[in-house]
Order: sequence, then C-alpha cells, then structure tokens
Amino acid sequence: MKGIILAGGTGSRLYPLTLAVNKQLLPVYDKPMIYYPICTLFSAGITEILIIAGSRELELYQKLLGTGAQWGVHFSYALQERPDGIAQALIIAEAFLHAEHCLLILGDNLFFSAGLGAMLHSLKTKEQGATIFACRVTDARRYGVVEFNAAGKVLSLEEKPLQPKSQYAVTGLYQYDEQAVELAKSLKPSARGELEITDLNNLYLKAGRLEVKQLERGSAWMDAGTPEALLDASDYVRIVESRQGIKIGSPEETAFKQGFISREQLLLLAKKLSHSEYGRYLTELAEDA
Ligand code: TTP
Repeated sequence: MKGIILAGGTGSRLYPLTLAVNKQLLPVYDKPMIYYPICTLFSAGITEILIIAGSRELELYQKLLGTGAQWGVHFSYALQERPDGIAQALIIAEAFLHAEHCLLILGDNLFFSAGLGAMLHSLKTKEQGATIFACRVTDARRYGVVEFNAAGKVLSLEEKPLQPKSQYAVTGLYQYDEQAVELAKSLKPSARGELEITDLNNLYLKAGRLEVKQLERGSAWMDAGTPEALLDASDYVRIVESRQGIKIGSPEETAFKQGFISREQLLLLAKKLSHSEYGRYLTELAEDA
C-alpha cells in the first residue's frame, strides 16, 4: 500500500498566517504540521509516499523532507496546479500509484490514536473497496457526516449537512483500492468547483464497497484549519509531551519504531538537531534503545 499526503490548499481560513507560508508548514507546537500526517502513514508501515502541493510550497517541502532516505522511506512530489478538490489527488497520483492500493491523508489532519497504526496495518491485506474513518464530534455540521443503522451499517454520507444524521464526522484519512483513480476521473466538479471526496466515497457506498471504521473512544482527531484549531492542536501536543515526557508526531521516532532506520541512524539524525529539546529527546531515545 502506498501513501499520499495532500498538502496544498489555500488555507484561507488562516489568513494572514498563510499568505506567504503554506498551512502544512506552520508549526504545531514543536514541529511542522506535515510531520503529523507523515507519522500516521509511517505507523501504517508505509514507506512509499507522494506529497502533493501547490507550486509555491512544493520546493519548501522538498527542502524540509528531501528524498526520505534519512528516515528509511521514499518521498515523491507532485504538483496540484490549483486546489480543485481532494479527490483530484487520486488523479494526480495515478502514475505514482501504478494500480496499487493507497492511504490518502490530508496534510492538516492530526490523529492521536493508540489503535490506529494496527488498524491501518491490517488494511494492507484488504482486497477491494474503500475504508474511511469516522470520529465523534460535537458539531458535525462542519464535516462530511456518516449515518449508521442500528447494526452499524453505513446508510449515507452527507457533506456539511444542516441537520446532521449522526455525530460522526468523516476524517481526512481514506484508504482506496486501485479503482479509485478511474472513479475520481468520472467525478464532475461540485457547485463550489471541486472534485469532492464525499462524491468518490458515495460511489463506493452505492457499490456496497465502502467500509467505515470508527476511531476508538479517547482518540483525538484534529484538523488545524482555523486559528483556534491550530492553537488547540499545539496545546494538545504540548500538554501530552510535557506531562508524559514523550514526543508525538516525530517522524524520526516513528521510523525507528517501525524498523525503517537503525539505532545508529537515529543517533546521527539526533546529532544534527542537538541544539533543540527535540534533538536531545531523540538522542535519549537512541541511547535508551
Ligand atoms: P481545506 O481545509 O478544505 O482547504 P484549505 O486548506 O485550502 O483551507 P481553507 O478552507 O481555509 O481555504 O483542505 C483540507 C486539506 O486538504 C488541507 O490539508 C489542504 C488540502 N487540500 C489540497 O491540498 N488541495 C485541494 O484541492 C483541497 C481542496 C484541499
């Protein structure tokens, strides 16, 4: 299974923060936002990752993340000329995917869920269809919303409904089989001119090939798209990290724990960052291993 991070967009709800800098390069407490979705893909054991972004930021991502070799993975990069919708990511990724299954994550979606890595690992053997992830929220009107029947079967998916049929929002993490590219190509732009991911998911739902998994109770899912959400995400990370003396969303640590890099490689990475608390944490992690 290959990974895709969609990390472009306009970030207009964060203006003026994002006038010169892409949203996913902004800090979430002590690291760039894109580190968190990278870790989510790493935790699924994914090492082939395509980063899709606009022309303004693509070079900056290359500067920040390089080839991925330092973390034992491979990053490819592709341009999305205009933010024409999330489903467009699959069309852009066609050559990269080479008919393989994929896990697509939005660059501003942060997942903190103990069981998620194992759940994602198990999707590698799934033969067909799509899987999306739902999380309980207080105000579902801002999201795509899943309606379930009493047996937990999915009845409908609605984008930003005025009267949500449940409190379960669709998160920005989607797993697709090889048919997703052709299905995405068949979509027509919505009233707001975008290729909507909800439309793609509805095609899978109608064909009886959509699975919706609920994130475990206690999981945290955040999208850092507004100033409040960005600050909440930073606060969440700071509180967990300072209370527990661990880091969350560290690609170096996740790569090490997934076995992508050795202890010696981790030590070298830590050395380069040794002026920061982050670097000292990685050094300790390697020394204790
Ligand atoms: P959104 O939050 O829907 O859009 P945005 O990031 O442009 O922000 P705003 O609404 O404030 O203008 O996007 C969700 C994620 O998907 C975000 O990580 C950016 C990414 N994205 C793209 O990269 N390309 C696209 O065409 C779209 C629609 C989103």
